[in-house]
Amino acid sequence: MTQHSDAIAPHGGHLVNRIVSEAQKREFLDRALEMPRVQLSERSLSDLVLIAIGGFSPLTGFMEQQDYDPVVTDMRLANGLPWSVPITLPVSEEVAEPLKEGSWVRLDAPDGRFVGILELTQKYRYNKALEAVNVYRTEDTKHPGVKVIYDQGPINLAGPVWLLQRDAHPQFPNYQIDPAASRKIFREKGWKSIVAFQTRNPIHRAHEYITKCALESVDALFLHPLVGATKSDDIPADVRMRCYEILMEKYYPKDRVMLAINPAAMRYAGPREAIFHALLRKNYGCTHFIVGRDHAGVGSYYGTYDAQHIFDEFEPEELGILPMKFEHAFFCTVTEGMATTKTSPSNPEQRIHLSGTKVREMLRRGETPPPEFSRPEVAAELARAMRVPAESY
Ligand code: ADX
Repeated sequence: MTQHSDAIAPHGGHLVNRIVSEAQKREFLDRALEMPRVQLSERSLSDLVLIAIGGFSPLTGFMEQQDYDPVVTDMRLANGLPWSVPITLPVSEEVAEPLKEGSWVRLDAPDGRFVGILELTQKYRYNKALEAVNVYRTEDTKHPGVKVIYDQGPINLAGPVWLLQRDAHPQFPNYQIDPAASRKIFREKGWKSIVAFQTRNPIHRAHEYITKCALESVDALFLHPLVGATKSDDIPADVRMRCYEILMEKYYPKDRVMLAINPAAMRYAGPREAIFHALLRKNYGCTHFIVGRDHAGVGSYYGTYDAQHIFDEFEPEELGILPMKFEHAFFCTVTEGMATTKTSPSNPEQRIHLSGTKVREMLRRGETPPPEFSRPEVAAELARAMRVPAESY
């Protein structure tokens, strides 16, 4: 079946595939010993994988300066396509210095496995402060995304990449559904409108509420939790996945909801990351994307609805995927149900909303979050898992 029968075209029109064929792989393996090596960080490894499987279409490699510069300043690639977060391979001067532009570089995973190839077309110095201020709206190194910039090397290596093979996810192989596969499943199921939900948390009642409100107006819901690198105090992915499974089993309709993992690393770039998250889900074949309160935010760096407003900076057709925007959701004690400020007659004291921090504190004290916040089975699973001291994760 052709691409045109999909509900939505990939960003840039073509789904990128940079996983090498068996013949190419043999050639790369033969040449591996003579190639210079670069060791990837966990984030760069997940970026390599996402480029290779088409999640970052139209990118075929780590960004050259002609793309990097306008992405940082104007949220656009050199060809004008919207793109909001730089995808780069930063290294130290010592690593960059011996590498020759025009040569092949062997990319190793953090554990030393040979995982990919970079055709090094360019190495360039970049301005960390400019990237921080534009992408994260702050230079504060307490911001986890900004800290990564200041901790990483000053030279970006750029050029097309290849992934040697697509390994099964070590923890969640059954939920590893790459863009070509999700598109195929959507086609087979006849889903024409699919809303994606990004999350890095267990699904609480507010998440459940907004996903179900969204599902009322489309064919299907694609639950797409991020399982790449997150900050150390976020709830670990294995615990979250058990919570998602509980919800899938008991609280969502089986024939309209699909659970799959998003291998990306979390950047905490708030508004910029909301655009990035939406484009990623467009590549997975989704037509709509949920943006709630403080999407991909951290601390108080972003306004509650900044991640919604940023969509107005683009023409809807240049993004393709449509944002579905939701107000802050909570349990309303007046109407005894989930609601938002748009639908509830309550005043703030009549609303039950617990922040992630508050919930983590409760869990560490051995308390179970209330049913107005979390489904009891999810709360029990969280309480069980999080009683273990955080250091052991
Ligand atoms: S995020 O970093 O992945 O955005 P989280 O998993 O908490 O964090 O949020 C997932 C999605 O749900 C985001 O779109 C976020 O804006 C939205 N969201 C989270 N909590 C609420 C809430 N109480 N009301 C409305 N939207 C929310």
